[in-house]
Amino acid sequence: MLYRKYRPKLFSEVVGQGHVVQTLQGALTSGRIGHAYLFSGPRGTGKTTLARIFAKALNCAEQCKDGNPDNNCESCVSFNNGSSMDLIEIDAASNRGIEDIRGIKDSALVSAPSGKYKIFIIDEVHMLSKDAFNALLKVLEEPPAHVVFVLATTEPHKILATVLSRVQRFDFKRITPKQIFTTLKSIAAAEEMKIEDEGLWAIAFSSDGALRDAEVALSKLRAVYQKRQIISADYINDMLGIVPRKYHAELLNTLVKGDKSTAIGFIHKIHDSGVDLENFTKGFLEFSREALLAKVSPATLTAMGRENTLQDEISGADPKLLIKIITLFTVARSEMKHSPIQQLPLELAILEIT
Ligand SMILES: Nc1ncnc2c1ncn2[C@@H]1O[C@H](COP(=O)(O)OP(=O)(O)OP(=O)(O)O)[C@@H](O)[C@H]1O
Ligand SMILES: [Mg+2]
Ligand SMILES: [Zn+2]
Repeated sequence: MLYRKYRPKLFSEVVGQGHVVQTLQGALTSGRIGHAYLFSGPRGTGKTTLARIFAKALNCAEQCKDGNPDNNCESCVSFNNGSSMDLIEIDAASNRGIEDIRGIKDSALVSAPSGKYKIFIIDEVHMLSKDAFNALLKVLEEPPAHVVFVLATTEPHKILATVLSRVQRFDFKRITPKQIFTTLKSIAAAEEMKIEDEGLWAIAFSSDGALRDAEVALSKLRAVYQKRQIISADYINDMLGIVPRKYHAELLNTLVKGDKSTAIGFIHKIHDSGVDLENFTKGFLEFSREALLAKVSPATLTAMGRENTLQDEISGADPKLLIKIITLFTVARSEMKHSPIQQLPLELAILEIT
């Protein structure tokens, strides 16, 4: 799997999450190490990755001036090949009970085999049972000096306030499509795979901010890749079941022009070619929303990392019209489930818009 092969080993290799990286490096260089951290945020955005780099740096014998691990000393090597006894990773999804936490407590009391830090990474910590949570709290109240906890979760709202008050919390962000695109491009180059940029963008947009998901998609391509082949965007769209963005742009431009006949013909064509209309409409709504944001809040679009792709795709559209299109298509999408003819709600929406 490419996502294992390209898992960052240094802080500088982590994409995005600048605020988290800086604070962790700062803690390492100043020597002010907390005893409990909470890494919260969407899946596949680098929580486990950063927890491991941090743990490795804590115990590195030749830690760099900027807090990075040297990836070369005995300790780093053992972290990198997964044999370090100083690092204990627990998946709370499958170890939910109080016994599991008691085990952690007992282990925390024993000093680290290396004589440095003992680091516990507890993944999906929101899955712990109530009793287990309380037991964990007890450990967090008086952590032994040599212990560091990194709790990770995709659902921070499920973490008790009493736990939150004892941890230093970091909120991880979704990776932007642009950052995902750039990462995929460099991995593809390293793997000597030739892929159309448009195809890499398609993966980037469909990964919903999870870099791991994007890298998994790239692994699927590599599995079928033949030397010197060029993978087309169409192939990728097919593989991922994605409707190309250019179709969304085409429909939106047709609606903006008020061309009802072409718009209805377009829906017919899409439906005939076997595309799932609900899925198509969802993508179309996302696209139209971006077109609207480009008019009313370009900064939001930039923050989403989508600023560069929209320019050429849509011609001038009045925000009022975009609002009408989005509203009517949203209604049409929910009506599709009950309609005897799947295209009908879309056709009616088109007639009302144009
Ligand atoms: N911010 C990132 N920078 C670089 N690579 C990343 C980043 N986020 C994810 N990846 C890639 O995705 C893989 C999985 O990331 P990681 O395990 O850190 O995600 P996670 O946030 O812990 O996800 P989960 O919530 O599912 O446990 C990494 O091995 C790496 O290849
Ligand atoms: Mg993880
Ligand atoms: Zn080292």
